[in-house]
Amino acid sequence: MRFFEFPVRRTDIPEEGQLQFIEEERHVPFPIRRVYYSTGVRTGYVRGKHAHRALEQVLICLHGAVRVDMDSGVERESCILDNPALGLFVGPMLWHTMTWIHDGSVLLVLASDLYSEFDYIRDYDDFLRLVATRKDER
Ligand code: TYD
Repeated sequence: MRFFEFPVRRTDIPEEGQLQFIEEERHVPFPIRRVYYSTGVRTGYVRGKHAHRALEQVLICLHGAVRVDMDSGVERESCILDNPALGLFVGPMLWHTMTWIHDGSVLLVLASDLYSEFDYIRDYDDFLRLVATRKDER
């Protein structure tokens, strides 16, 4: 799994909390063309359940904790995101699900392109077929 660590600025005043920042092509490897975030999601709910053909994304849990499961069609990997200074890279052709571990956890996503339904693969069997086709083409 590929993670990015973002700069954290904090002072010795605990009440001030901390500040994190992300610059495109510096802290994430692509120009950020879209930002979206999920709020109000209940514990145990699973979002995602799709792959993207070309989109690159970085997932950041701003508050709470979210488990991410990724499946390349060959191997599976999981992690728990609970650090707002850490981003998980989700590249193309990775079936992924996000499971809410705490009520109201906030997941922020930085995306390399605008929304396009054509970029989604929403059926798992279609996904596996596409993985196999792409492997044959190599
Ligand atoms: P989806 O990506 O399936 O959500 P999740 O992966 O979090 O379960 O998107 C849910 C709906 O929102 C779907 O109808 C497409 C729409 N949508 C947009 O219109 N623009 C966006 O940027 C995103 C991410 C989704």
